[in-house]
Amino acid sequence: MSETFFVTTALPYANGPFHIGHIMEYIQADIWVRFQRLQGKRVHFVGADDAHGAPIMLKAQAEHITPEALVARIAADRPRYLQGFHIGFDHWHSTHSSENTQLSQDIYRQLRAAGLIDSRSVEQFYDPLQGMFLADRYIKGECPKCHAKDQYGDACEVCGGVYAPTELIEPYSALSGAKPVLRSSDHFFFRLSDPRCVAFLRQWLDQPGHVQPQVANKAREWLDGQGERTLSDWDISRDAPYFGIPIPDAPGKFFYVWLDAPIGYLAALKSYIDSGKARANGESRTFAQLLAAADTRQVHFIGKDIIYFHTLFWPAVLRFAGAPYRVPDNVHVHGFITVSGAKMSKSRGTGISPLRYLEIGMNPEWLRYYLAAKLNANVEDLDFNPEDFVARVNSDLIGKYVNIASRATPFVTRHFAGSIDYPTGTDELVESARAALELVGASYMAREFARAMRQIMTFADRLNQDFDARQPWLLAKDPAQRTALQDSCARALYGFKVLTCLLAPVLPALAERVGRELFGLQRPLNWRDALEPPRHIHPYRHLMTRIDPKQLDALFESAADISLDTKPEPQTQSAAAATTPGAPAPATLSIEEFKRIDLRVARIAAAEHIAGADKLLKLTLELGGETRTVFAGIKSAYEPAALVGRLTVLVANLAPRKMKFGLSEGMVLAASDETGGPYLLAPDSGATPGMRIS
Ligand code: MSP
Ligand code: ZN
Repeated sequence: MSETFFVTTALPYANGPFHIGHIMEYIQADIWVRFQRLQGKRVHFVGADDAHGAPIMLKAQAEHITPEALVARIAADRPRYLQGFHIGFDHWHSTHSSENTQLSQDIYRQLRAAGLIDSRSVEQFYDPLQGMFLADRYIKGECPKCHAKDQYGDACEVCGGVYAPTELIEPYSALSGAKPVLRSSDHFFFRLSDPRCVAFLRQWLDQPGHVQPQVANKAREWLDGQGERTLSDWDISRDAPYFGIPIPDAPGKFFYVWLDAPIGYLAALKSYIDSGKARANGESRTFAQLLAAADTRQVHFIGKDIIYFHTLFWPAVLRFAGAPYRVPDNVHVHGFITVSGAKMSKSRGTGISPLRYLEIGMNPEWLRYYLAAKLNANVEDLDFNPEDFVARVNSDLIGKYVNIASRATPFVTRHFAGSIDYPTGTDELVESARAALELVGASYMAREFARAMRQIMTFADRLNQDFDARQPWLLAKDPAQRTALQDSCARALYGFKVLTCLLAPVLPALAERVGRELFGLQRPLNWRDALEPPRHIHPYRHLMTRIDPKQLDALFESAADISLDTKPEPQTQSAAAATTPGAPAPATLSIEEFKRIDLRVARIAAAEHIAGADKLLKLTLELGGETRTVFAGIKSAYEPAALVGRLTVLVANLAPRKMKFGLSEGMVLAASDETGGPYLLAPDSGATPGMRIS
């Protein structure tokens, strides 16, 4: 055995369940890991919950439980998803663990000994009621640029202005409402701007293979200090109260969550090895020995939003922490998954709930295949499109792959008692299998999964065409054609075995069943099995069902609020959701038809959150004498308080509609497309509530 791979995926925040973006990342990594294992490589594939930080502490506080209890509740839910989607982590751990405390403190001490830790006084807003320093997102106030009320401490959602929290007019704590006071406190910094760090990072980024070229370019922008980005020292400490790891020799100070989170990769590996679990995976070395070994490869899969942490801080921290730590060998960055073109938010997820997918009995390997068919090695976003999903899976997996076995096997069972013979020998067939393994193997290796799936389906197309051209259903009727029948089926079924090996990283459960039930193997199929023409096949058993489009309806009904947003039902909320981005414009209408729409200027008198609604805000609108209630799907873009007093446009003669939360009496207009929104429309100054728009 040559290399040993130590592979991780980004550690998910432990304040919520997995969403489809997490599952996509794990499936990508899992396919790659399974491919390596099929090649006979040893892989240690670990994950963990990212447990620390202020948001988790505050969420636990709001639920009147300890952060530990919150994290444990989330962790308890993880196996359902991971097993459900056949994601084969060897071990799942937590950053809130003794291993992580020990490793984080050790790494910190080594960095300090290397002269890379500074202490400086920092002045920051402090909430006297809550008794804590406030991160920018917990401070609100009036925008210093456009004077919109209730804007966050770092940027204004109304005018897009960017500023320091100290510039806010009449700032208040989003946690307690208290007026924050400026206080100073000593913070620790990792000296990322130290020439040693900069020189090392430059060299690390320049070496091909560590990161994709576009990622290296992005990281270099920070190094070179282009535009607004510059490499500054990194504040790695937070003051109590904080849910985190105590900093040695500094009472009341904790590591900032992003310092200990990546160290959690190492903590997970250490816990996996120290627990003895790794021995079953052929690993007899200690944690330190494994990390220090020259042929170990440390590989991280992450999303594009956390490049900065993984290509600058993390390599530099590891480099200057010294032995036994190793600098990452590869950081593989993927884009984001969207659903029907709609971006998902980190907190709200998308229209697809992974658990719902499993609960309604959808096959996890459909999703694995679909994602594989769309994933490449670039940092590109990927869209889950329901129609495309159904068409792709049904035509490729059922129509091309499974089809071969379901058509050829019965002939062999009926006419040859399951025995597969090769009247023209196997050399030529083994050669084409070898060529396919090489071609597809190179694509898997390079994480060009879409290319691999295309190559596999081309192979399947050829097999189907060959089988059809030989017309075995006619040959079977003529005893004189027995050898020709045998030949046509043997070619097809060997091809099917090759396809199964090629698809095994993507469809592990199906490959396992095919190996066991059809080819009678007592062990899982491996890559080289494709070079062994099968000699026997058991009677065909149903392998995979088609996707019924009705299942997708069920999938998207999952959350009532979400379906309100994605279904084109104009009456439910803002007009923005009524048109599909990129959809052709409707046919023309006459001015009379247009005049039937009663558009009015309305003043937003009140705006409020609705308990249980993910997307909607309840708006009270004044129309000059008349008051209306409208539920608008704009929660993702607007804080209620920021809306009060604003003028907007109302479709006033829309039939009232009864909704889950009450009666909606009209619709407000907003603009959006896949790049953003909804943006509420507003009349020019001078317009007053009730005015007719024409
Ligand atoms: N806790 C940090 C990571 C710490 S790693 C030491 C974090 N957590 S996260 O839960 O927000 O994100 C976890 C991973 O999911 C990240 O790699 C992120 O890029 C990925 N994704 C989040 N949304 C995604 C999509 N919509 N699509 C694909 N991946 C996405 O960041
Ligand atoms: Zn503003």
